[in-house]
Amino acid sequence: MKHTSRYPFSISLLHWVLAVALIGNLIIGWMLDDNEDLLTLHKSIGIVILVLVLVRVVIRLRMRRRLPPSTNQAGTPAYHAEKTVHHILYVLMLVIPLLGWLKTNAAGHVASCFGLFSLPTLVSKSRELSYWLGQLHALTAYGLAALVALHVLGALAHRVLKSENILPRILPLPRRAEQKMPASDRG
Ligand code: HEM
Ligand code: HEM
Repeated sequence: MKHTSRYPFSISLLHWVLAVALIGNLIIGWMLDDNEDLLTLHKSIGIVILVLVLVRVVIRLRMRRRLPPSTNQAGTPAYHAEKTVHHILYVLMLVIPLLGWLKTNAAGHVASCFGLFSLPTLVSKSRELSYWLGQLHALTAYGLAALVALHVLGALAHRVLKSENILPRILPLPRRAEQKMPASDRG
């Protein structure tokens, strides 16, 4: 098994915190069924996700020169597939909570985060807009679930088809742990 260098600690940590929060909020979303308490929790977690994704994007842009190169050879279909999936994942991570926020406003409510602060109201109450924003919010959330499955399959394909373990690239391990690895394990 070979693996190359790692993503910076901050990006790896945010990757897993967000993966857990996003999958958790997808599950809560599917359990909503007019349960007011769950909806309040869902919105609050969603707002935290929105903030963390913005932080992640800023860190990603600032550190773009320090990221490990792709394990797929540039220009190959696998390389383009990987980059396309990653880009769409970033877009969905931003668009889904934004649509949830707008849907909440269009339904005549303020989007509040655990009662600590509220997001500004961006659209006024409209039944029709609320319906369509809700539909879009659900559709994009289903898209995210499908794409995350594809993303995990991609990681598995590296392991099975290429005998490459790419998971350590995105594990938030301290640098020292990486240095202790046997030289033959490093890329
Ligand atoms: C909601 C769930 C998830 C989302 C939104 C997500 C999103 C992403 C994104 C956007 C990247 C690209 C990082 C960058 O270049 O900035 C990435 C990398 C990665 N993700 Fe995920 N991920 C999720 C869950 C998972 C899970 C469950 C696994 C487990 C197999 C996984 C494994 C990886 C690996 C191995 C990489 C590094 C790929 C490489 O460059 O070699 N991810 N993820
Ligand atoms: C990235 C984070 C989020 C994910 C993954 C997510 C996912 C979902 C899912 C799967 C549903 C159920 C859709 C259905 O089957 O009808 C849902 C419903 C809903 N979400 Fe989110 N959501 C997120 C963030 C937010 C945010 C930030 C808000 C508002 C501040 C929000 C407000 C709502 C509302 C109001 C509903 C109910 C829609 C309805 O009654 O038709 N969501 N969400």
